Amino acid sequence: MSEALWGRVDEYIVDKLVQEDASLEAALAANAAAGLPAMDVSAAQGKFLHLMVRITGARRVLELGTLGGYSTIWMAKALPADGQLVTLEYDPGHATVARQNIDAAGVGDKVTIHVGAAVETLPLVAAQSPEPFDFIFIDADKPSNPIYLDWAIKLSRPGTVIILDNVIRDGKVLDPDSTDPRIIGTRAAYDLIGAHPRLQATALQTVGSKGWDGFAIMLVD
Ligand code: SAH
Ligand code: DHB
Ligand code: MG
Repeated sequence: MSEALWGRVDEYIVDKLVQEDASLEAALAANAAAGLPAMDVSAAQGKFLHLMVRITGARRVLELGTLGGYSTIWMAKALPADGQLVTLEYDPGHATVARQNIDAAGVGDKVTIHVGAAVETLPLVAAQSPEPFDFIFIDADKPSNPIYLDWAIKLSRPGTVIILDNVIRDGKVLDPDSTDPRIIGTRAAYDLIGAHPRLQATALQTVGSKGWDGFAIMLVD
């Protein structure tokens, strides 16, 4: 039950099933070389996002929180030829590394990065793209999760799938007295999701190379 064992099982899953391609490994290496924090999804989780984009038949994907583009590349590689992915990143340094990684992965023509706080860039995205998104991955600053969910619903259509990352945090999400703004934001997101008339949802706990965490998965009605 140790974290080391979770990591080794993740390696087994990746070896047998995930087929992480060279551009994804290169992106992680470039991120490390540039000093970016290793907050990317795991390879198994990246493949899950990739499969979800394919399963939903998504043509238009929105991501909040690009970092070095690791999850972006996984999702962009699942898009059809006319697919588009819009990703929002606060840190210009992260966005520069991401742009290089995404271009090197051969999906640059499908990906638009908006640099700035997502609360500032979401209104621009809404103005520029009147067409709703089919699939939305929220993985930016956790205190803003309730705001991001409101925007995600606004930019959705019935049938849109929304995935929210980091909803378990080693079980810290259970603590109603937490003073950590990330936990407070994620707990507020649970309340919003659970009470929202247009959202059907669950959350799945995951263990693996990134520890104990999980995704919330929502369908917009
Ligand atoms: N989705 C990425 C990981 C994202 S890490 C992957 O799995 O590969 C979270 C990212 O959100 C960081 O790059 C951080 O700079 C960015 N971020 C933090 N605050 C933000 C904000 N207000 N708006 C947009 N992005 C933000
Ligand atoms: C952190 C953020 C993430 O999105 C993640 O997947 C893991 C860690 C963090 O802020 O520490
Ligand atoms: Mg995350």
